Amino acid sequence: MGVTSRVVVLASGQGSNLRALFAAAQVVDAPFEIVGVVSDKHNCGAIAFAKSVNIPASLVPFERGDNRLVWDQGVCDAIASFEPDWVVLAGFMRIVGEQTVRAFEQKMINIHPSLLPSFRGLHAVRQALDAGVRVTGCTVHFVDHDVDTGPIIGQAAVAVISGDDENSLQARIQEAEHRLLPRTLAKLCGRDDASPPEQRTLMVL
Ligand code: GRF
Repeated sequence: MGVTSRVVVLASGQGSNLRALFAAAQVVDAPFEIVGVVSDKHNCGAIAFAKSVNIPASLVPFERGDNRLVWDQGVCDAIASFEPDWVVLAGFMRIVGEQTVRAFEQKMINIHPSLLPSFRGLHAVRQALDAGVRVTGCTVHFVDHDVDTGPIIGQAAVAVISGDDENSLQARIQEAEHRLLPRTLAKLCGRDDASPPEQRTLMVL
């Protein structure tokens, strides 16, 4: 048995990537376990899922007029309380502040729905469609002090099919994310991708 890394997931949305990570953590001798979820949203799918499978969840909401530095310190403390080896941003819809980035430098990764450095920021799928690219995908990268700019760790390519709209393309990118993120994290935890080659996502690691 190898060492099991402690992972905290930050999420604000439906939590499908959290589910994929959780599923990957259920297999025998999994390389990581999800020890906590941190969210800024009370009523999101990620929090509901965490509760349903008994993952401890911390809420750090940001209300209009709140001090960003105080909020960021709250996020930092919430993450630190779980003593993670790795921190995964999986649809966390707020920009993480300086002190949190610094506290977890080289330990914090993000999943983004484009082949970075193309289409940073919001609406990456729409940006790809508007640009007319024939291939897009998703990227796992380290979090640094800017948005979607940190060193790239893993990527999966997804073809744009004629007739695609934002929903259909986003759905296929999410399928790729659900393979790429757990496998990339497993690599970071020092374990290889155990899936058969034909099932592996095209990745550059
Ligand atoms: C994902 O598409 C991810 O790339 C982006 O936010 C989305 C989160 O989806 N950063 P989910 O909440 O994991 O379903």
